[in-house]
Amino acid sequence: QEAVANPSSETEEAAAAAGAANTKPISSILIVIAMHTEAAPLVSKFELVEDPDKSLFPNGVPWVRYRGKYKDLDINLVWPGKDPSLGVDSVGTVSASLVTYASIQAFNPDLVINAGTAGGFKAKGASIGDVYLASAVAFHDRRIPCPVFDLYGIGAKQTFSCPNMLKELNLKVGNLSTGDSLDMSPHDEAAILANDATLKDMEGAAVAYVADLLSVPAIIVKAVTDLVDIGNLTSQDFFQNLVVVSAALNQAVTQVVDFIIGKCISDL
Ligand code: ADE
Repeated sequence: QEAVANPSSETEEAAAAAGAANTKPISSILIVIAMHTEAAPLVSKFELVEDPDKSLFPNGVPWVRYRGKYKDLDINLVWPGKDPSLGVDSVGTVSASLVTYASIQAFNPDLVINAGTAGGFKAKGASIGDVYLASAVAFHDRRIPCPVFDLYGIGAKQTFSCPNMLKELNLKVGNLSTGDSLDMSPHDEAAILANDATLKDMEGAAVAYVADLLSVPAIIVKAVTDLVDIGNLTSQDFFQNLVVVSAALNQAVTQVVDFIIGKCISDL
């Protein structure tokens, strides 16, 4: 008879390994950022350099890895790059998922940080330039009206909680809803409200899904570029605020990284 693995002892071993990993200082982080304008201030702040070795990713993908050491911490920052045919930033859940998956496989980080910009709901207290740590994520454009598949589509998840970080840093806290559109259809709006979201972005829940699948803790830091519940968003509003708000994002992510240094996952 074939030997059958003992699932309970495997689970215990995995839990023990995860526990040990949580109590050693964080030595390597992966920052996933969708837009070049959002990434550029962090690349320069942490003095990261673009890795000329493209062999860690499949041939021909536009994904860009910036790497460096900041106060003994290994930082990999990945940006999905420009769409090969249209030349714009590869925003959205598909590129974010792929690049997060490939980067976790390649760099084995202790922690993933998805940093970027988001739309905010004024009715939930958001203002332009505010920076949030997402407390939970969900999708708002995956409608599957069948039992249980509906919940799978929404994919609601608590993010890794960081009570000590929140005590020390001046970050707001709110739920994030993710979808693949910058604008907001009436369907999206209803789903975002049902997700009790303060923020609306195009990557967060996808990055959290992949990190969770690969058992890496993930946190999501989002700065508000536009208020989605007051008037229609124009692309001009978004791009006008993007540069200024990316500076606020840079400052907040630097504080997060400074806080992380020397700490274990369980100290966050
Ligand atoms: N990123 C910045 N603003 C956004 C919005 N309104 N919707 C989705 N992603 C965003």
